Amino acid sequence: MKLYHSPASPYARKVRVVAQECGIALNLVPTDPRGDAAYGKVNPLQRIPALVLDDGEVLFDSPVIAEYLDATDHPGPKLFPASGPARFGALKLQAMADGILDAAVPRRQESLRPAALQSEAQLGLYKRSMSQTLDALETMADKLEGFNIGTIAVACAVGYLDFRFPDDAWRQGRPKLAAWFETFAKRPSLAATAPSA
Ligand code: BEZ
Repeated sequence: MKLYHSPASPYARKVRVVAQECGIALNLVPTDPRGDAAYGKVNPLQRIPALVLDDGEVLFDSPVIAEYLDATDHPGPKLFPASGPARFGALKLQAMADGILDAAVPRRQESLRPAALQSEAQLGLYKRSMSQTLDALETMADKLEGFNIGTIAVACAVGYLDFRFPDDAWRQGRPKLAAWFETFAKRPSLAATAPSA
C-alpha cells in the first residue's frame, strides 16, 4: 500500500504510527499537495495523507486510513476499541487532537503570510481553539491511558506543537499532559516518526 505523506504532517504521522504498531509496511511517497496540482487526481481534497490500496482504491483522510489499517488482519494490538465507552472515548480524543491540528496547521500558514496580510482576529481564533482544547485535555489526563487511536492522536498533535510552535510552551500550566507525553513519546513508533521539515 502506498501512503502519500509529508514528514512534517502530524496527520500522516498518526497513520504511520498506526501502521508501525500494526506491523504493516507502507510505501511512503513524500508529497507537497500545495505544490503538486496532479495530486488532485489521487485525492480531490488536495490533502495528505492518502492511502492507495493494492486494488487501486484510495482512502482519506487520516481517521479513515487509521481505522482501515487497524481493521486489517494484522499481527499487532487493536488500536480502535470495538465498542462502547472505550471506543467513543478514543474517538473523542482523536477528534480533540485532530481539532487542535485543524487550528494549528492553518495558523502556521496564516503566520507565514506577509505581516500586513495576516488576520490577527483569525490567528486569535486558532490560538483560542488550540489552547482551550489543550486545557480540556489537561483536565482529562486520567483518560490518556493505554495505547489506542485516541492517545496516538494526542501525542501526534502535541508533538506537532513542539515542532512548529515551540514558543507556545504548551506544557506551561498543563503538568499532567506534559508528564503523560514525556513517557508516551518514548515509544519506538513515536520516536521513529518524529516530524521533520
Ligand atoms: C507542516 O509543514 O507544518 C505541515 C505539512 C503538511 C501537513 C501539515 C503540516
